[in-house]
Amino acid sequence: MITLTVNGVTHRIGTDPTTPLLYVLRNELRLNGAKFGCGLGQCGACTVIVDDDPVFSCVVPISVLEGRSITTLEGLGTADQPGIVQKAFIEEQAAQCGYCIPGMIMRSEALLRRNRSPTDQEIRDWMQPNLCRCGTHMRIIKAIRRAAGEVAA
Ligand code: FES
Repeated sequence: MITLTVNGVTHRIGTDPTTPLLYVLRNELRLNGAKFGCGLGQCGACTVIVDDDPVFSCVVPISVLEGRSITTLEGLGTADQPGIVQKAFIEEQAAQCGYCIPGMIMRSEALLRRNRSPTDQEIRDWMQPNLCRCGTHMRIIKAIRRAAGEVAA
């Protein structure tokens, strides 16, 4: 049994400890915010925050996550009450197909937790591991700037 703390809730998980976190989130806990993109740690669609770090949940086995604090998209807000970063992405219409956006939001959230007023270059560097095939990068950057303004206010 592995104990996972996800969005402040403790879960006892009986599945194989080598199972990647993404599968447990989606298939057992029914938290579908994190998406399966490549499954190889190369796209970022599955990004969640562990403690304060963004991680690709498709390549992190649950065995290394006991005692860590896991935050998923669902932990930031709801459709009715989105979190600051979620709201900024909506207001800037930063999604096209939308598949990468949960991961983008989680990576952005991790950035603003450690740097409340990032420069454009810092945003670009930080967001680099997460891919968007539609090319909405400029709107994503605008959304992060907007969220940073609200965090700093
Ligand atoms: Fe995890 Fe692509 S699905 S990095």
